[in-house]
Amino acid sequence: MSELSINPARLTASLQELGRIGSYVDGNTGLHGVNRLALTAADGEGRRHVAAKMKALGLTVTTDRIGNVYARRPGTDNALRPVMMGSHIDSVPTAGMFDGCLGVLGALEIIHTLNDANTTTRRPVVVGFFTDEEGSRFGTDMLGSAVATGRIPLETAYALQDRAGLTVRGELEKIGFLGNTDEKLPPPHAYLECHVEQGPVLRSRNMDVGVVTGVQAISWHELTITGKSAHAGTTPMELRADAGLAAARVNLKMREMTASGRYGTQMRATMGAMVPVPGLVNIIPGRMTATVDLRNPDDAFMRAAEADLKAFYELVAREEGVKLDWRQTARTDCAHFDGGIQERIASSAGRRKLVNMPIVSGAGHDAQEMARVTRAAMVFVPGEYDGISHNPREFSTTEQCANGVNVMLDVLLGLADERD
Ligand code: GLV
Ligand code: MN
Ligand code: MN
Repeated sequence: MSELSINPARLTASLQELGRIGSYVDGNTGLHGVNRLALTAADGEGRRHVAAKMKALGLTVTTDRIGNVYARRPGTDNALRPVMMGSHIDSVPTAGMFDGCLGVLGALEIIHTLNDANTTTRRPVVVGFFTDEEGSRFGTDMLGSAVATGRIPLETAYALQDRAGLTVRGELEKIGFLGNTDEKLPPPHAYLECHVEQGPVLRSRNMDVGVVTGVQAISWHELTITGKSAHAGTTPMELRADAGLAAARVNLKMREMTASGRYGTQMRATMGAMVPVPGLVNIIPGRMTATVDLRNPDDAFMRAAEADLKAFYELVAREEGVKLDWRQTARTDCAHFDGGIQERIASSAGRRKLVNMPIVSGAGHDAQEMARVTRAAMVFVPGEYDGISHNPREFSTTEQCANGVNVMLDVLLGLADERD
């Protein structure tokens, strides 16, 4: 354990400050949520706020061509590759204030702590936030980190459109974050990310910290189903081509697949968006757009589920007399984090008397992209209310957040002292 510890109250204040940008009051619950959807004006404001914070800490800030923002603190040997900490500050439209922000603001709190202690690391340290981790607007998650690590070409990312037909490139330009540095990130010495678990496991087991072993595979599809719109009262059932019904059958099929055990016991499947056209009580939906989100901690099971679901798309189109077009909007294999860094996380937690356990991430993270180019690892902190996330009720206490960031501080100091 290092002598140093972060300032928990300062971290919480910093999370609250950023959480006010894009805040809204949820109409149903009256709770305060956060909406900083990628590349909107609110995201732009959040970005400027965090970039200003970076500069105030004395860091050198650059923005690359996909809008990823990196802030560098020099070391004593600047020829060495930096150790990087990061995450994202964009949000789903119905977020709390922790998802992603804890990783970025926690990293900046670490920098603040190092500055206060006049501590210079051997290696430079970089804190970054990546563009559009959530994928809620342009359909592809981990976009900025995937471009930075070469999985998605810049031009492919630029051309992605939201539902209104606005492009990533145009929207980056509009909010003033179409940067000019090379989008290909030179692999850092190592990458660390602290994040809320976004699930119930750590809290239910009274854990302080999760040592993340990796991230499960993710497959996203966008379905466009075309049938025939007609009168709900007059059209006999056997003469219908009901696009809504076809989508419902896909959703039920996925439920059946998760329960079957044929794809392991941990397959998850969600149809999160279902938009019928025209979407009226007495009209058979002639068109339906829907999304599919498949997750599995086993690559082979994921591939088998994808193959079977694709075959089902064809079957349901035939049986319901509709046209079912689908496209893959995001796809990542399972990611595995660095074993050595996991050990350091566990031993820092142990020295700090924090109860910890290994855990596979159910959510996608920028760290999984970074794991393809360098040693990467994540520290999870528990969340209250069953770890609910992507929801205004998302909440981790000051102590829970500080525990995770202190562990990241210890591990950072070890890595940043390494010669090779
Ligand atoms: C990212 O938040 C995800 O969908 O896992
Ligand atoms: Mn996140
Ligand atoms: Mn998220």
